[in-house]
Amino acid sequence: MAKSSPVFTCSACGAVHKKWAGRCDACGAWNTIVEEAPLSTGPKSLGLKGRLLPLTDLATQEAEPPRAGSGMEELDRVLGGGLVPASAILVGGDPGIGKSTLLLQAAASFARRGVKCLYISGEEAAAQVRMRAQRLGLTDAPVALGAETNLRDILTTLDAERPGLAIIDSIQTMWLDTVDSAPGSVSQVRAAAHELVTFAKRRGVAVILVGHVTKDGQIAGPRVVEHMVDTVLYFEGERGHQFRILRAVKNRFGPADEIGVFEMTGAGLQQVANPSALFLSDRDTPAPGSAVFAGIEGTRPVLTEIQALVAPSNLGTPRRTVVGLDSGRLSTILAVLEARCGIPFAGLDVFLNVAGGMRVSEPAADLAVAAALVSAREDVAIPPDMVLFGEISLSGALRPVTQTENRLKEASKLGFSQAVAPSRSKLGQGEGMRVRQMPDLAAFVGEMFGA
Ligand code: TYD
Ligand code: MG
Repeated sequence: MAKSSPVFTCSACGAVHKKWAGRCDACGAWNTIVEEAPLSTGPKSLGLKGRLLPLTDLATQEAEPPRAGSGMEELDRVLGGGLVPASAILVGGDPGIGKSTLLLQAAASFARRGVKCLYISGEEAAAQVRMRAQRLGLTDAPVALGAETNLRDILTTLDAERPGLAIIDSIQTMWLDTVDSAPGSVSQVRAAAHELVTFAKRRGVAVILVGHVTKDGQIAGPRVVEHMVDTVLYFEGERGHQFRILRAVKNRFGPADEIGVFEMTGAGLQQVANPSALFLSDRDTPAPGSAVFAGIEGTRPVLTEIQALVAPSNLGTPRRTVVGLDSGRLSTILAVLEARCGIPFAGLDVFLNVAGGMRVSEPAADLAVAAALVSAREDVAIPPDMVLFGEISLSGALRPVTQTENRLKEASKLGFSQAVAPSRSKLGQGEGMRVRQMPDLAAFVGEMFGA
């Protein structure tokens, strides 16, 4: 057999290169290419034909997969309505954010509902996991615990036990004896994930893989793990806040962009059924620079408070500090305010923040951001019973956004009575709200602030 030469893999995107280079051609990242032992190609194929099925035979099966609910509603919704058998799920997040806590609670909930659960920890000893379970009050749940990192042993156990759900915490600690590099390396993570996903599909076991995320927000190891699994969930939150958000970024069995909201307490993670109330709870008297955005996260409307502070700068290039929003979007909105509405921010430091540690990525937040900025600059408060939404185009026009009715309904439910929306929005019933429709940003700023 010819001796296989070493390969070089990019630890960011998983691309394979023939020789080392400082920069990966595939993803453009610097200093990410590492030498790896070559992947074993396994025994040669015997040339047998793969089994084919006509699509029509599948029609007799149910269109919707049968799902197991955990009873943790925030989790079930993010999964698309429950756990699908034989699916592979990746849960990523920063170390210490609460992934192990979440999954231990999830395992207990599934087990209490009759799903056979195996929780394999590669990071903590079984005694440590049991101690945590005790503190969380989960010791009555029939979850089988394992502390193991050798994937071969784990697969043998899974094959013998045939659970409904296996949780692997974390994929970076697993290693296969057929792969010649250290646990956590690109080839180990990729091979281990591949084995587990294949096992899930073949044996009808749902598998949840925990993955740590690197500083720049990538799941450590190759991105390819994200492509292998059916569902990718991110568990995120700000360190200083107790709120944690479980976000679906890919889901073959449900809507992507769905979120579940939890609160980290001394007794583990508690579900937050009404996030709007939570994110708005610490609003006191109306202050300049605060605007409430009626947003949509996945299938659910969520109200968040956008806060802006504008102050004279003593720097050559004024500060632009953003938390919870895209900084590129802030630059665009500042440019539109200056060019289309004649409101300059030159010489002013701008700080923008989404209250409660929430992240907002919807373009529909543009109008609330602009309103908070102008409100802070002009020192004029926005009425406390007003919500805003609408996308701002470069011409300064306001574009209608989706699900106007749902946004208004949620705002009305939480005691808001007026809204500002783009012209031509589909208002439906209006939900008893006084809705002002605005064609462009200049008209809104003129009416609201007289600027
Ligand atoms: P953990 O689930 O170990 O994080 P991960 O698996 O993502 O690395 O969570 C660790 C943090 O959660 C730790 O800082 C302590 C905190 N925590 C609580 O606040 N309350 C609790 O009941 C538990 C179990 C953990
Ligand atoms: Mg952990």
